[in-house]
Amino acid sequence: MKIQAVSQTLANVEADAVVVIGFESGALAEVDLATGGWAAEVRESGEFGGKLLDLVVLHRPQGLKAKRLVLAGGGDAAKFGPTQLRKLTGAIVRKLKAQSVKSVTLLLEGEAATAEMAQASTEGALISNWEATIHKSDKTGIHFLESFTIASATDFSAAVIKGAILGEAQNFTRDLVNEPGNLLTPMVMAAKAQAMAAASGLECEVLDRERMTQLGMGSLLGVSQGSLEPPALIVVRYKPENPTSTDHLALVGKGVTFDTGGVSIKPADGMEKMKYDMAGGAAVLGAMQAIAKLKPGVAVTAFVPAVENMCSHNAQRPGDIVTSMSGKTIEVLNTDAEGRLILVDAIEYARQQGVTHMVDAATLTGAVVVALGHVHIGAFTNDDAMLGRVMKSAKAQGEKMWHMPLDDEYKDYLKSPFADLGNIGGRWGGSCTAAYFIKEFTGGTPWVHLDIAGTAWLDETAPHMPKGPTGICVRTFVDLALNW
Ligand code: BES
Ligand code: MN
Ligand code: ZN
Repeated sequence: MKIQAVSQTLANVEADAVVVIGFESGALAEVDLATGGWAAEVRESGEFGGKLLDLVVLHRPQGLKAKRLVLAGGGDAAKFGPTQLRKLTGAIVRKLKAQSVKSVTLLLEGEAATAEMAQASTEGALISNWEATIHKSDKTGIHFLESFTIASATDFSAAVIKGAILGEAQNFTRDLVNEPGNLLTPMVMAAKAQAMAAASGLECEVLDRERMTQLGMGSLLGVSQGSLEPPALIVVRYKPENPTSTDHLALVGKGVTFDTGGVSIKPADGMEKMKYDMAGGAAVLGAMQAIAKLKPGVAVTAFVPAVENMCSHNAQRPGDIVTSMSGKTIEVLNTDAEGRLILVDAIEYARQQGVTHMVDAATLTGAVVVALGHVHIGAFTNDDAMLGRVMKSAKAQGEKMWHMPLDDEYKDYLKSPFADLGNIGGRWGGSCTAAYFIKEFTGGTPWVHLDIAGTAWLDETAPHMPKGPTGICVRTFVDLALNW
């Protein structure tokens, strides 16, 4: 999609549709002047209340060059910020492209005319123009917008470029997550990471099974052993040319390309969705693509343990005891609690590589969906200051997170009579015990764990986003690196 920022006014925009934002209160003088009172009329008739995501379309508006004039509801003007505009832009694009509109220009004026708003709007346009249709042979009825423009008196070209980088990175992540387990194996994921790194000027290293065996990653390898698909630990490195910090940030992402549960097999119903169990890994790779372009002053390295969790004659058994790279032994009480098993070896490896701060993203537990639904990411930490930085970025990017507890009482849940710890904590507090398990391997390095099981996949199409992968965490990670 062509993305640009121009200096144009309502009357001289030439596009299939020009969009003006209206709020719950207040007149739209410019629109009324150009159209002889249309905005006032649709407000009076009740067709447009200005509520967030309200849309009315006027065809062939007199006095304008655009083919359509769209009034878009911004809701309460006092609460209208980048998060609302990102969503609103998405809803506009999805409605209009379904009607074969190819070019949209959004007018940014008044208090909404800021760089943050222009960036967020561009992100929203790109995110909403993505469709999970790559494997459909019949593409009739699937429409895409071809051009999105921000028009304003201020020059927002830099903000629009930044928004496009973020939106494209998020869509890159969604493309990865959308791929089924047969087409995106650990090795394919590694190859895609390598291609992205090469195109972005990043360093990429892929540790194979042999190397991981040498390093003693028994916890990760135990998960992978039941699959014919070899595992990969994908490492992507960004080093700033002009560092502004001596810190080294690790982004760790769960990369289970398919999760059958292993011998502790999952129920068949809905198992197809477990292709998204690599959404955390895909998010850190997407973030790296944007980081390469936006060049923060801090070193960032992505670590993606990629494995397939299968059941076979060679799969690990409940009760198996594995030795992690850290030396801690783990009793695998449930082979379906595999995410934590691969993450702790990736985290130990990251620590040995000298990272100073770590964030991980993982579709880790069904329990976090029970606790928070599909609204918030569950955020856990061993360092409140670090969590504060992540939460600040998440808030700025409209990705909701909720601080979850990690009290030491959870340690008792993970006791094993036969090994240093068990990999599950029993029935209660499942997302907390999963997080506590990982915490045991962080060795005091400031760390934030993001459980994205409820937020990485959208079950029903929303006005601003189609059903499928959301690309959650990409924007938060990039923002975190840029504001480090
Ligand atoms: N990938 C799943 C978590 C998951 C479940 C994500 C549902 C999205 C929706 C994870 O590997 C898993 O299976 N977790 C188990 C842990 C349990 C065995 C302690 C779970 O949540 O049921
Ligand atoms: Mn599992
Ligand atoms: Zn899993």
